[in-house]
Amino acid sequence: MSHDRFYITTPIYYVNADPHVGHAYTTIMADIFARHHRQRGEEVFFLTGTDEHGAKIARAAEAAGHTPKAHADALSARFRDLGRVLEASNDFFIRTTDPKHIAEVQRLLAVMHERGDIYKGSYGGWYCTPCEAFYVEGELGDGNTCPIHGTPVEWLEEENWFFRLSAYRERLLAHFDAHPGWVVPGPRYNEARRMIADGLEDLSISRSQISWGVPVPWDPKQVIYVWVDALFNYWTALGYGAGPDGERFWPPDLQLMAKDILKFHAVIWPALLMAAEIALPERLAVHGYVLKGGEKMSKTTGNLVDPFPFIADYGIDALRYYLSREIRFGEDGTFSAEGFEARYTGELANELGNLLNRTVNMIGRYRDGVIPADRGLDTEIPAEIALRTDEIIAAFNTADVTRAVETAWVLVRALNRLVEQRAPWALAKDPAAGDALDQVLFTLAAGLKSVVVLLWPVIPGSAERALSSLGQDPAAVTLSDAIFGTGVAGARVTAILPLFPRVEGRPE
Ligand code: MSP
Repeated sequence: MSHDRFYITTPIYYVNADPHVGHAYTTIMADIFARHHRQRGEEVFFLTGTDEHGAKIARAAEAAGHTPKAHADALSARFRDLGRVLEASNDFFIRTTDPKHIAEVQRLLAVMHERGDIYKGSYGGWYCTPCEAFYVEGELGDGNTCPIHGTPVEWLEEENWFFRLSAYRERLLAHFDAHPGWVVPGPRYNEARRMIADGLEDLSISRSQISWGVPVPWDPKQVIYVWVDALFNYWTALGYGAGPDGERFWPPDLQLMAKDILKFHAVIWPALLMAAEIALPERLAVHGYVLKGGEKMSKTTGNLVDPFPFIADYGIDALRYYLSREIRFGEDGTFSAEGFEARYTGELANELGNLLNRTVNMIGRYRDGVIPADRGLDTEIPAEIALRTDEIIAAFNTADVTRAVETAWVLVRALNRLVEQRAPWALAKDPAAGDALDQVLFTLAAGLKSVVVLLWPVIPGSAERALSSLGQDPAAVTLSDAIFGTGVAGARVTAILPLFPRVEGRPE
């Protein structure tokens, strides 16, 4: 991953219902990666979008009394709006109803068909519509229920087109063995490899009983299985959503998803790509579930948290920070209003917001608002910033967002300790301590600048406001801007309203 381009994706979200905090989570995490890689100076392509075909969507549309397309248009717009509110910096938003996506999926299928990887057969199996997937008896829960949703599965039997997934077993295993970091974290790699080693059945890749989908090019009475249509979005988007020569971004450097769709991405997706003769992605990063009350947040369980009220009350950066820090990337974590409030007040407001406020006020009071020169008396903070910057880069290289945020926060705490230890208000009373006061004010301003640049991927708006307040260019947020001390001395600070103001009352 040392090249100068970076292509990152989220799963495309089903438009059967409104977005919730679970969807916001993946988009925010992907955005943090995208922004960090832009900080490195890489040319980033960040893709998200909506998955709009299949029985699940057709049924939701019918229940709402709309045509599938009208329903998909309305819900897709909600996901797009959510992205804007999250300040997601995605470069394109794909919809699987885009005509150019449909045409390319049909072309790819025809290629696979010509190569002999697709044949006609009949299949009967237990189908879960919320998953849009078949299960074998042994995988089902009590009373013929879906192992993921706990809802009843249906027996589905029809004549379909099949993809020779089983024929790819050896090649898939070889790929896993040659690329030990292909799926992270490690336990997910092992889980996916085991699925392949245990044996693969061929995959039914068309449906005859539903019409809401992409027609099979050589048999238009059937539509392409929604997962095949959906997975190819990562490829088709580059053909029309990334400008001329969009294919230069292929293959994806990082594909994010929750663990429920591991098999689709780590087993079926690479086999489809092999069949279509397309290079495989560099890495899949599988995260856990955002839980509420101990359960996965999902439409099916009904325990949803609407992100919009939290954003309205606390600001988007508070949500971005909370999710990246509270839920250890790769593991499940609980969303709670109490936990949110505690991190907002205890960390964002009291540790970071106050630090900026105090620094700017002291420079105003003791140095007429101009950041003094570096007297060369501090070495610890600059060394710590250099060290932590390397650690943050390393954390992103292993797809560990939470560790990156925690590491930046170590610096916030180091600067707060410096204020307490040096007590600038006491130095200001001592006429012989002018240099010492200059130094601590310089170190605080320079240190804060570095910290907010490092935190910019997580809290972009707040970081930019902080930079302005420190007399810095708010657009200068590359990793080289995080190097301690550059362009700080002599800049004029401006007092601003608190970055993270007190919030009265809180969302349910
Ligand atoms: N449409 C498929 C994906 C096709 S990708 C080619 C799908 N959609 S989904 O809307 O059900 O979920 C997509 C993703 O949303 C999950 O993989 C995950 O990234 C995110 N999440 C949805 N609910 C979530 C939680 N409760 N917790 C964490 N992530 C969640 O599957």
